[in-house]
Amino acid sequence: MALASRPFAVTNVRFEHYLPEYALGLHESQPRISWRFQNAPEGFQQHGYELELVDIPSLSQEARNPATFKVDSGASVLVPWPHHDRLRSRQRVGVRVRVWDAVGFSSDWSEQSALEVGLLSRQDWKCQRITTSWPVDPSRPGPEHLFRKQFSTRSEVAHARLYITAQGLYEANINGSRIGDQLLTPGWTDYSKRLQYQTYDVTHLISSGPSKNCVGVRLAEGWFCGRIGFEGGRRNIWGSQMTLLAQLEIQYADGAHEIISTDDTWQTTPGPTRLAEIYDGEKYDANLEIPAWSTGDSANSGVWRNATALESLPETTKLVAGTGEPVRAVEVLKPVDLIHTPSGKSILDFGQNFTGYTRIKRVRGAKGQTLTLWHAEVLEHGELGRRPLRQAAACDQYTFCGAAEGESWEPRFTFHGFRYVQVDGWPAPKGERAMMDSFEAVVIHSAMEPVGAFSCSDPRLEKLHSNVKWSMRSNFVSIPTDCPQRDERLGWTGDLALFAPAATLLYNCYGLVSNWLVDVRGDQDDLDGVPPVVSPNVVKEDKVWGQVTPFAIWHDCTILGPWALYQATGDSTILASSYESMTTWLDRIPRNKARDNILWDPSFFQLGDWLDPTASPHDAARGQTDSVLVADAFLIHSLETMASVCTILEADSTQAETYGAAAERYRFETQRAKSAFLNEYISASGRVVSDSQAAYALTITFDLFETREQKMRAGERIAEIVRRNDFKVGTGFAGTPFVCEALALAEQTPVAYAMLLNEQCPSWLYPVTMGATTVWERWDSMLPDGTINPGSMTSFNHYAFGAVITFFYERIVGIRRLEPGWKRASFTPAPGGGLTHSQASVLTPYGQLSCSWSLDRKPSRQVNGGQHCNLHLAVVVPANVVVELVLPSSSSSSLDSERKQSVKELSCGNWSFSVPWVEPSDAEWPVKPIHMKLFG
Ligand code: BGC
Repeated sequence: MALASRPFAVTNVRFEHYLPEYALGLHESQPRISWRFQNAPEGFQQHGYELELVDIPSLSQEARNPATFKVDSGASVLVPWPHHDRLRSRQRVGVRVRVWDAVGFSSDWSEQSALEVGLLSRQDWKCQRITTSWPVDPSRPGPEHLFRKQFSTRSEVAHARLYITAQGLYEANINGSRIGDQLLTPGWTDYSKRLQYQTYDVTHLISSGPSKNCVGVRLAEGWFCGRIGFEGGRRNIWGSQMTLLAQLEIQYADGAHEIISTDDTWQTTPGPTRLAEIYDGEKYDANLEIPAWSTGDSANSGVWRNATALESLPETTKLVAGTGEPVRAVEVLKPVDLIHTPSGKSILDFGQNFTGYTRIKRVRGAKGQTLTLWHAEVLEHGELGRRPLRQAAACDQYTFCGAAEGESWEPRFTFHGFRYVQVDGWPAPKGERAMMDSFEAVVIHSAMEPVGAFSCSDPRLEKLHSNVKWSMRSNFVSIPTDCPQRDERLGWTGDLALFAPAATLLYNCYGLVSNWLVDVRGDQDDLDGVPPVVSPNVVKEDKVWGQVTPFAIWHDCTILGPWALYQATGDSTILASSYESMTTWLDRIPRNKARDNILWDPSFFQLGDWLDPTASPHDAARGQTDSVLVADAFLIHSLETMASVCTILEADSTQAETYGAAAERYRFETQRAKSAFLNEYISASGRVVSDSQAAYALTITFDLFETREQKMRAGERIAEIVRRNDFKVGTGFAGTPFVCEALALAEQTPVAYAMLLNEQCPSWLYPVTMGATTVWERWDSMLPDGTINPGSMTSFNHYAFGAVITFFYERIVGIRRLEPGWKRASFTPAPGGGLTHSQASVLTPYGQLSCSWSLDRKPSRQVNGGQHCNLHLAVVVPANVVVELVLPSSSSSSLDSERKQSVKELSCGNWSFSVPWVEPSDAEWPVKPIHMKLFG
């Protein structure tokens, strides 16, 4: 490969895990720094780096006090902040980086990346917490509240920041313009402990000089006091009053500084949004709009009253910046069809199930006329299928004021999980085109950095991958939730525990998940060390979930969640900050005192292999696999993971001795638990007592056998079970992420492919054949006859079963981390399943890593009954990463164990190879099902 002709540069200089565009208002006072490389020469490995730090004063963009730091190190990810001084509140710093290799070949300086610190201490907050001044009935949902403050600037404005948060949801404006594009701010946290605030650069929105300015804020109930929870939820979980805290800090060009902060001189009035609820939707009456309400020109009409100032937030509620990406509108969808239902309704089809809302555009309606939009994920017998929404109305209503030019509107404080929208009360002009043109759908989610891409020769698998990605997008809305449509949308810990490894392949979700884990740990403290089933814990009062009951998997999230983040990034700080929560959980697990004193006490109820396809639609926990076996398998997995966590912390930390001793203890406990498990559940030859797909999936993947022979026998047995089941899936939440991997580990990869490519229900492809555009909660959320599954828990947008996509990356393509954070990876191409090509790329912390293989078939040539092909391999390795390419040899057969492999180490560059490959013969692929016949 020739040297790159464009200059070799360092790019994407970033702080902690923030995307460069979100480096405003950070709370880290010594943020770690990372960068990627552009046009690095072939084989480049960094040997040293130099950081240049400059202060960016707020009065000018001229940098001051450059300080440079040279470090001999190959590290380019999360390197320590070089300055001994900690950054202060509001400090703005620019950072540039350059690097060199062993022979001194160096890059240019990067562009400058800037970061700005937020308000680090409570003393920085000068504002008062304000609320409305009229009595509000907290027992029922009320309208949005508007707040505003008109002000004049003294002279030319050099720089202005708005720091703002609310107990509720807010949308802020200055002089009639919306500030920023963040949605559902301040985001969802356990508001009693942590309230996030946002920092906005509003310099450009403020008018300098004599004209009047105005900051205006809309406030709605949101998660804070709106209805949320399980089985309909409850109102006022964190408080019954919406409140606002804001301070606008203006730096004038002449050096003066002014703070305009919320207090009882702010004015307030109810707004035109008459109802704003997460589950039920929004009702907006355009007749109640107050023209130009958030501008300096608006008259002080009688509707405005002074706000009431409340006592400060208790010190126990921290004001934090949070580390999750903001929720934003990320895509706009146009309707693909207008459906007229048998009952005469009009339904728009957006062609994709997703999370967001409907926008209406320039619709002309008579004054007082109301347009109603009902949202749902599916149609049932041609009508809108609203039953799965349970007690969520998911309905938005707009009342026209009769504007001649038409009216445009979109909700601000709600979101729906939907594909279809039933439009009731459509005003003139009638006509299909006019209706289709008048609506669009806005897709929203936490705007994480996409990292994974997959393609292959089977479009059905590509569609499945796309569906998983859509389900992740739909459910990563401020926190990782279970579903976006019904009366839940909660941070169920088990769902994330199982999906986290897949999630990290699709998006960089470190910021969001680590932010959520802070609340998981806080909730765990409240529950005396037993983690919550959902966090923020809004089910404390629920009759089932409110009890402090330990559950396997859901509570193992305290270990498996941080572990997945560590694997994706190599950042061990998440392990250190989760350590206490992990050990506390392991200590709280009730053990079987009567027998081994190490496995789970079997008297505790477990969710087990939740939603196993053989469980009744009305009893999802009652699957075919012993739920205690499932719990015990996860216990061992958690103990073993914990031993690794301690070993990593031992190497990284000043408390090496403590962690070393803990590692020893967890290794010992893992061994004890494995022996007890063997004794209880595994026969000498390798059969597992539950004899189900999930039992084998877990025991093989978690390595719970004593001997290789037992494991291989278990592999044969699960293959047999799958073949007898016509390759249909027999696992629920717990077994599904592991079943294909277990087959591959036990050298039954063709059976894994047969299962993956199967279309009969239950299977991953059955929903695809039914037109699914997201992953369903149940294998048969929609029954083959087009009827919605009768179970009350029937979502069409749950990511859990999508965890199988780790197999797509790691097995179908063969790309895998060898070291956490992708410093070292492997590419083990092993074509199978009749596919002729596959490709995956991952945007690693170092840059884009991409691997693909394709088969060039030569039909005339048959070798040993198989087909002789050329296997073309292509690899793109980013700088500072090494990829081990495991080349299959020409004598390879379909059996993994018989493949002779050779390993090549590839460093930065674009690589391609061709090797001979023999495709399996007809006798080996496709794998045949086993049918037991009674006669003949
Ligand atoms: C949620 C699940 C969750 C489960 C636990 C459901 O209602 O949607 O995803 O993990 O409850 O029982």
